Amino acid sequence: MTLAKAAQRVAEEFEFTPDQVRNGVKEFLAEMDDGLQKDGTFMNQIPTYVTAVPNGTEKGLYMAVDLGGTNFRVCSILLHGDTTFTLNSSKIKIPQTLMKAQTAKELFAFLAKQIEAFLKEHHGEHYECHIEKKQKGEQASEEEIFNMGFTFSFPVRQVGINKGYLIRWTKGFDIADAIGKDVCGLLQAEIDALHLPVRVAALVNDTVGTLMARSYTSPGKTGTLLGAIFGTGTNGAYVEKLSKVTKLTNAEEKGLYDESTGEMIINTEWGSFDNGLKTLPNTKYDAALDKDTPNTGIQMFEKRISGMYLGEILRLAIVSLLDDPAVPLFSDENSGSNDFRTTTLVNKDSALLKPWGIDTSFLSHTGGDSTPGLQITRQVLQRDLGVHGPSIEDAQAVHVIAAAVGKRAARLSAIAVGAIVLQSKRLDVPASDPPIDDDMVDIGVDGSLVEFYPGFEEYMREALGEIPGVGEKGEKRIRIGIAKDGSGVGAALIALVAGRALDAVAR
Ligand code: BGC
Repeated sequence: MTLAKAAQRVAEEFEFTPDQVRNGVKEFLAEMDDGLQKDGTFMNQIPTYVTAVPNGTEKGLYMAVDLGGTNFRVCSILLHGDTTFTLNSSKIKIPQTLMKAQTAKELFAFLAKQIEAFLKEHHGEHYECHIEKKQKGEQASEEEIFNMGFTFSFPVRQVGINKGYLIRWTKGFDIADAIGKDVCGLLQAEIDALHLPVRVAALVNDTVGTLMARSYTSPGKTGTLLGAIFGTGTNGAYVEKLSKVTKLTNAEEKGLYDESTGEMIINTEWGSFDNGLKTLPNTKYDAALDKDTPNTGIQMFEKRISGMYLGEILRLAIVSLLDDPAVPLFSDENSGSNDFRTTTLVNKDSALLKPWGIDTSFLSHTGGDSTPGLQITRQVLQRDLGVHGPSIEDAQAVHVIAAAVGKRAARLSAIAVGAIVLQSKRLDVPASDPPIDDDMVDIGVDGSLVEFYPGFEEYMREALGEIPGVGEKGEKRIRIGIAKDGSGVGAALIALVAGRALDAVAR
């Protein structure tokens, strides 16, 4: 078989048809409903106790920290009250050993240390002053304590604005000791041990932060509907009618939020949509990848969409061609042999041959490579992946498969976005022709995939247009905007509202 044919055959395994998109949307709507009624469903539909989105006039100085995947970020944010803000931030990679630590304390003590270092660097005077007071045994006043939003981007059963129990880890984290514990309490204990002037005022999922941040900065009168992350992991949070959140029934929970807006932001945890694989595609590469994760059978939607996994899906697909003796992928034409496995250009210690060896950025590079002769793909194959002198045909084969994996991820993402737009009924309101700002259904997104994978939004839009009830007309009313720094600004905005509420309770 020719290499081009073989690669095409693999690419076809990643096709995701309009019918599959439509079936996915039906299932997604059903699972959303299920999750609003009871606990223990695939999609957790977590009530966040945040009942309003900001309008851009909010003001003040807040802190935010973000633990969500590869990095830990610490920020302080000054909201100017005119839809703009200034932000200071620092970022540190989470050591692999802490992602799988024996105890939760090890991880959270590390986080508190980073907050201490940030305060010393960016708010030195404030920090020194507080420590001096502490040493003299004086009490800090409410105004001296920073209200901090804690963006913690894992599934948490939230039971109040700054309290929530970890349900499960995702994205390669695995610390059994932390499951079932209140993550705000864990962080506050370590902050207090260092005597820092910081109160964990709000627990925030990154998608909720993205939604808040986008709503603070977006044009038009209508608040943002959805905040979505397509990065290391994937997830979305949206504005739901309170009356639909029927699992929020007991009086204790009811006292914890303001009912007057009639709405609440729900963290869908859509990464676990259709864990039962009723509508999701399941190639042999998907199945092999799932087996090799610490959370087999869980986050099945995420494992087909997000950055943590796409590189490995691509790698498995490439390896399937390499393993086929009839397919001349990366074969050394000068060797004079016909057994392509013994004449390979692939270095023995190439990342291509190591599980999880390919970074998803490779997918972005090759998927979007439009240079003549696929220069970029060939360069990256040579430089990063230990393939000596790949031919144009080799590069073409990799490119075709990478593009198919990326396109499938984008089309799958449309299921979630489309279903949430339908659930909101915002497209049922008649619009002007052409639609004006206030007719738009606003969506804030963040994450490496949506930012860097070429054509991600276009592919997603194409699939959105195929969904009954959205269609091409509706798709044009969906406005998608990057909400940069969403988790920082958004968490600050929630800390603002939450800080007021906590002060009121303390008084
Ligand atoms: C987590 C979500 C998070 C998403 C994006 C998922 O793995 O379960 O809580 O929002 O990643 O960071």
